[in-house]
Amino acid sequence: MRRCIVVGCGGRGGYWTNNVLAQMTDRVEVVALVDVQQEALAKGAETHGLPESALFGDAGAAMDAVEADFALISTPPWIHEDNVRSACEHGLSILMEKPVADTLDASVRIKKMVEQANRPCVIVQNYRYSPFMLAFREAVRTGGLGRLNYVIARFAADYNPPKSWGKRFRHEMEHALLIEGSVHHFDMIRNISGRDCEDIFGYGWIPAWADFKGNSNGLYVMKLSGDAFASYEGSCTTEGYENPWHKEYYRAECEFGAVVVDTDNIVKILRVDGEEEIVRQPVNPPEQGQAIVLEFLQYLATGVPTQTAIADNMKSVGMVFAAIECDRTGRPVNVNEMLAEAETRVSV
Ligand SMILES: NC(=O)c1ccc[n+]([C@@H]2O[C@H](COP(=O)([O-])OP(=O)(O)OC[C@H]3O[C@@H](n4cnc5c(N)ncnc54)[C@H](O)[C@@H]3O)[C@@H](O)[C@H]2O)c1
Repeated sequence: MRRCIVVGCGGRGGYWTNNVLAQMTDRVEVVALVDVQQEALAKGAETHGLPESALFGDAGAAMDAVEADFALISTPPWIHEDNVRSACEHGLSILMEKPVADTLDASVRIKKMVEQANRPCVIVQNYRYSPFMLAFREAVRTGGLGRLNYVIARFAADYNPPKSWGKRFRHEMEHALLIEGSVHHFDMIRNISGRDCEDIFGYGWIPAWADFKGNSNGLYVMKLSGDAFASYEGSCTTEGYENPWHKEYYRAECEFGAVVVDTDNIVKILRVDGEEEIVRQPVNPPEQGQAIVLEFLQYLATGVPTQTAIADNMKSVGMVFAAIECDRTGRPVNVNEMLAEAETRVSV
């Protein structure tokens, strides 16, 4: 049994506390909850039968008072760093919501902190665990389609009405699409291609009529490792054809055919001279959050880093910060060079 302190019990933290961990009490004991909102604490306390003494408004105070094995962090991105620092100071392992942080420098500091503390740290990339994306990834690898040529990814949602995208902060923050949205899609491009992004180029912008203070739209092209390419369309202001959360469009063009998924979540293999083939999806795989916790517990037990451990996930969040740099400069950015420069420059 592993003991967990949940830090941030609101939107996403509420899902972890009251849904995922509520169904995993045979493996994980929630020993304390941290949030700055009483309502979120009260709901979690009710779910896990916790006393008032297990509820805190500050992560460090909770970790001083309560023994635990890991922290599950679901606070807004710009608060991740403080929470990770507290966890590292208390020798806790970390399971944390994407993105690593809201800036490149904070992300690098977080990576260095967990390395120095020598604790496992895993970033949540839940879309990797949906049955259709598990099937998609497998089809690219073993569907007899030969070498990968390029990947097309599309996310488009109508978040123009005020407060339509969860909490208001997404409409107020800089780089809303890239930091809160595209990190999932960039990670998925890496996941389905099995490649890393070398160079990225594109534009981010806010349509004149949009209810966003930071870029809500973006179009980017990428050069991937192993002679492959990718293209990404992201829109939080679509008024036309939607590919919203869990209904994104992905297409992998390969040597002998393509794999495609659209809003219906049906994964197909298309060949120019062949019948359309529906790809079988895993039947009843673990719910995404439970799959992530199970994988994380395995990491704690074996010490073997899992697929979205922070060292690997920096390559996904690095794409986000490289795209932000493209928005700023209008020039292509080499992701590895940018990450290497930040590793040298930034200290904890
Ligand atoms: N994986 C996904 O599909 C997914 C979906 C939504 C959000 N997220 C991520 O989850 C994280 C949280 O987003 P959200 O939508 O749940 O936001 P939210 O605002 O709904 O919840 C954040 C919670 O953190 C609390 N909080 C704020 N400051 C705090 C502090 N100093 N200490 C403790 N608690 C504090 C807030 O009171 C709130 O309850 C972000 O990193 C976001 O990117 C991931």
